[in-house]
Amino acid sequence: MDLYIVTGHTRGLGQALVAQLGAEPDIDLIALGRAKDGPIPGGAQLFVDLADSRAVEAAFDRVEERLRGKRFAKAVLVNNAGVISPVGMVDRVEAIDLERALAVNFTAPVLLMRRFLIATATSAKLRRVINISSGAGRRPIFGWGAYCAAKAGIDMVSRVAALEAQTAHTGVQVVSLAPGVIDTPMQGVVRSATPEEFVDVERFRQMKAAGELRDPVEVAADILRHERSGKLFAEPIADLRTLGA
Ligand SMILES: NC(=O)c1ccc[n+]([C@@H]2O[C@H](COP(=O)([O-])OP(=O)(O)OC[C@H]3O[C@@H](n4cnc5c(N)ncnc54)[C@H](OP(=O)(O)O)[C@@H]3O)[C@@H](O)[C@H]2O)c1
Repeated sequence: MDLYIVTGHTRGLGQALVAQLGAEPDIDLIALGRAKDGPIPGGAQLFVDLADSRAVEAAFDRVEERLRGKRFAKAVLVNNAGVISPVGMVDRVEAIDLERALAVNFTAPVLLMRRFLIATATSAKLRRVINISSGAGRRPIFGWGAYCAAKAGIDMVSRVAALEAQTAHTGVQVVSLAPGVIDTPMQGVVRSATPEEFVDVERFRQMKAAGELRDPVEVAADILRHERSGKLFAEPIADLRTLGA
């Protein structure tokens, strides 16, 4: 039995990941997101608002309860949930929105990675963390201050975790993965910005019109295929667009 924990499964890439995992045999699936507690194919969903770090810890307490006594050949955490808002120059957006974006995009994945590594230390033979990052963490983008900063932070904490795993010989594999531009509700938010908020908005509208956004179902399948082959973890910083077939 393999364990998969996926955040942000109510739409977009997370929804596609959970749908594919839930259709497979021998997987214990836990989805963490803003959807009410209950069973889902392959496992369960647990409600959590990832902007609230105490709620993140409490949600993981509940994950641990579910894992008690179980052993896994492999345990995988996919920190997928994210928010692009607020879009706008850093001095023209609300402080509370910046704080929320940093909490969802950075603090929550770091806290979840910590709890996941503690919880699975003796219960899983192979442990993997996939942090969904973005090209926006690797270059500055006008109007995306909190998002760029959080994704850059995710890249760095992933590098640190990979280094720690290598040095301490824990066998843990960590990757911070830029998935490319995907046709999800997040891209709708991107396209709805004004040019004052986001100077590149027209380019993103054109990409959508030209059919250049990838289907989240295909992206999820690529991620899971590269996870299973182990190719995803060749380097702690990866880009799905350059990983090859
Ligand atoms: N789409 C792209 O082009 C693109 C490009 C590069 C990287 N990414 C990254 O890929 C990942 C998935 O993005 P996506 O495009 O699928 O985004 P999306 O369509 O906006 O979906 C985001 C998911 O995160 C969840 N989420 C957001 N805030 C939350 C909160 N406070 N608590 C719990 N869950 C929360 C959402 O749940 P709710 O329904 O509750 O809001 C939703 O399930 C993100 O990390 C994103 O940064 C996307």
